[in-house]
Amino acid sequence: MASARGEFSSRFGFVMAAAGSAVGLGNIWGFPTQAASNGGAAFLVVYLIVAFTLAYPALMAELIIGRHAHANAVTALRQLSNTAPQRLIGGTTGLIGLVVASLILSFYAIVAGWMMAFCIASLATLAGADSLALWLTDFSLERNILGMVAFMGLTVAIIARGVQDGIERWSSRLMPVLLLTLLLLVVYVLTLDGAMDGLRVYLLPDFGRALAPDLILKALGAAFFSLSLGVGTMLIYGSYLDDRQNLPLVGGLVTGVDIGIAVLAGFLVLPAMYVALHNGVEIFTAGGELISEDTLIFTVLPSLFASMGIAGVVVSLFFFFLMSIAALTSSISMLEVPVAYTVENHGVRRKQAALAIGACIGLASTLILLNFETLFGLVVAVTTRYSQPLIGFVFCIYVGWIWHRDQLLQELRKGNPEVARGLFWKIWPWWVRVVCPLIILAIFAQSLL
Ligand code: PHE
Repeated sequence: MASARGEFSSRFGFVMAAAGSAVGLGNIWGFPTQAASNGGAAFLVVYLIVAFTLAYPALMAELIIGRHAHANAVTALRQLSNTAPQRLIGGTTGLIGLVVASLILSFYAIVAGWMMAFCIASLATLAGADSLALWLTDFSLERNILGMVAFMGLTVAIIARGVQDGIERWSSRLMPVLLLTLLLLVVYVLTLDGAMDGLRVYLLPDFGRALAPDLILKALGAAFFSLSLGVGTMLIYGSYLDDRQNLPLVGGLVTGVDIGIAVLAGFLVLPAMYVALHNGVEIFTAGGELISEDTLIFTVLPSLFASMGIAGVVVSLFFFFLMSIAALTSSISMLEVPVAYTVENHGVRRKQAALAIGACIGLASTLILLNFETLFGLVVAVTTRYSQPLIGFVFCIYVGWIWHRDQLLQELRKGNPEVARGLFWKIWPWWVRVVCPLIILAIFAQSLL
């Protein structure tokens, strides 16, 4: 059954796909500025601890449920259930997960469309088509819709091709390109005047700020979003893994790549901001905080590029290309969640499912664009702040409390016969049973207050 429904061909392919899902806009633009405004290297330490103690165990829960069932979240959670109410809760959680994944994609595609537009605008500038470049960097409704539709088109095209020819092939091509582009940009930016001031802000630890309780919770939320948890994405990718893979190891690799790229992005974004400051661009808000989020990406950095002449156009091209790739390897993993379910549980053909669901999500994005002020922030908050942790909570409960311990061990043994003797098996089962759910509840309670 497993091979009929698609499977990653190698460990490399899986790690590229799962790391591709994890590495996204969250890493490259969210993490560095959060670190800068919240204690620099101290935030980094907190983030690392949180990523390995909470996000990694939760990632393992999803991967192992998926690999065991070789099915989507709805079927997988139903299979693990022992009673009718458990089946109902499991199935419903899977369904909510696919709605949340689709909603995340609906706002993600908008932002990714902006990235693509800025990337093509740099090409247009190089080609001397200045009025086109101007149109592409202006936030008109037409440009926004066109960018979103183009980005959704790419996402659908990859998902329509399936696991090996679509997800694995494109992730394995794009992830090395992403890493190389990022490295080139880091090296270049570090040679510019002002870059060292940025490095100092990024790397000087201020433990007073980083240990504030609300900040720890913020880091938790960021780690959850960054590892694509709580929507069934990692579960479905795990379901395409073959039984010979050593799950704790591949999960560790994915976590490591995700964190590594976030940290590396800090060596680009922070120095770039201080280069901008050096070139006369404003990088602080009226309140004295570093400018972050969309203003950083679409105002501060473009002003920096503009102040650099022709070199700036090339750097801008590389930067927005990097952002577009990071977004694309994440967006395909979001679309795969509802598509896999529709294909497996309703017998729809993959191409048709990808197209139809992609079109529906595109419509949702258009609705958000038409009511941007009210809907955008709302959808982001409902999906990332509330739904992801809560669904992640249910995954942990299913692994920790509903699944029998010996069956769990059997699943892990498939790819690692010695697993019972290692540290992972000594810690993880009770960690995911007790510690993870409690911490997730704490995040949730905090965000409600
Ligand atoms: N991890 C992605 C990022 O950092 C976002 C994502 C969330 C992807 C949920 C898939 C599912 O941008």
